[in-house]
Amino acid sequence: MLSGIRSTGNLHLGNYYGALRKFVAAQDHFDCNFFIADLHSLTTNPDPDALHANVKSILAEYLAAGLDPEKSTIFIQSDVPEISEMYLLLNMHVGIGELMRTVSFKDKARKMLGIAPSDSESDEEIEKQIVGNDTGKRVNAGLLTYPTLMAVDILIQKATKVPVGKDQLQHLELTRRFARRFNSFYGVDFFPEPTDFSFGGAPVKVPGLDGSGKMGKSEGNCIYLIDEPKALRKKVMRAVTDEGPTAPNSPMSQPVENLFSLLELTSTPEVATQFRNAYNDCSIRYGDLKKQLAEDILAVTTPIRERVADIMADEEYLRKVVARGAEKARERAARTLADMRQIMGIRKF
Ligand code: ADP
Ligand code: TRP
Repeated sequence: MLSGIRSTGNLHLGNYYGALRKFVAAQDHFDCNFFIADLHSLTTNPDPDALHANVKSILAEYLAAGLDPEKSTIFIQSDVPEISEMYLLLNMHVGIGELMRTVSFKDKARKMLGIAPSDSESDEEIEKQIVGNDTGKRVNAGLLTYPTLMAVDILIQKATKVPVGKDQLQHLELTRRFARRFNSFYGVDFFPEPTDFSFGGAPVKVPGLDGSGKMGKSEGNCIYLIDEPKALRKKVMRAVTDEGPTAPNSPMSQPVENLFSLLELTSTPEVATQFRNAYNDCSIRYGDLKKQLAEDILAVTTPIRERVADIMADEEYLRKVVARGAEKARERAARTLADMRQIMGIRKF
């Protein structure tokens, strides 16, 4: 089993319930590999100091949330140079067209070019602007080959179980396609086909506090695992609601439904039911609901936040964890790469 998170900022409740908590639970059941995808973060040209700081903070958050280096291989993508070489090799079997049709590429390219997402002409417009030389903007080739790099992360470890969110399923489909293509081109049975894997129940979607559908870094609606109690309470108290129910058993508006979803994730079933009943008989006060929600979220995040601070301060420990992780990850990666070179005809005299 293998999964990674890009180092683009601190981890939020969406990352925790959607990914990290499941990683922690899986550790006792599988040969687990978790990494920080710092090379993937380069596709959006981060500030070098910020990138370095983000790698460190995500590593500390992984460990604070319960990833255990005794049980799992925890590593940083760029510590495994074999990944970069295999990325070059695999790219020789990847089509520019199939990469350009990837939804995540189109979304990110659209953002970089400043094209509105709702524009139905935008697919053509993206291609025109990418290929044309009349715009001052540039979509980098790393962004285009993002799926190749992700496929390499997976295939180099010959991972078969890959827990990812819905937005990553297309990348996983491409990974399977690249694996099949490589196997059939060289007439080998070399790469296994990885599948999406949800451990510990159905996939969850953690909503944002702004009434929108999803909590996400780029949406600016996050509760971070390391938010201080005061700031966290303030965020929750400011969450979007509505005028309140005016008739018994009214349907819920999206923002209120979102608050209930968060309560159901973080609170006890009794508390959630109590508030649902209050909503249904119109006695609910959203202020009380938010206060309860803030305390329940804090009960989840406080132990993690406190451990993050301790772990961040222990650089020696962090260095040890990633050195050991890299060693283990490189062992398997080096074997795959050596075999792949051989298969492709890059051989010693
Ligand atoms: P973001 O959307 O904040 O940039 P990433 O795309 O880096 O987060 O996601 C890292 C992992 O966290 C992925 O497995 C993704 O599916 C999961 N994840 C992110 N946001 C949510 C959310 N709101 N609900 C559930 N899972 C999420
Ligand atoms: N692309 C993934 C994301 O944005 C992160 C990632 C990179 C990944 N390589 C991976 C996830 C390999 C699983 C397996 O969330």
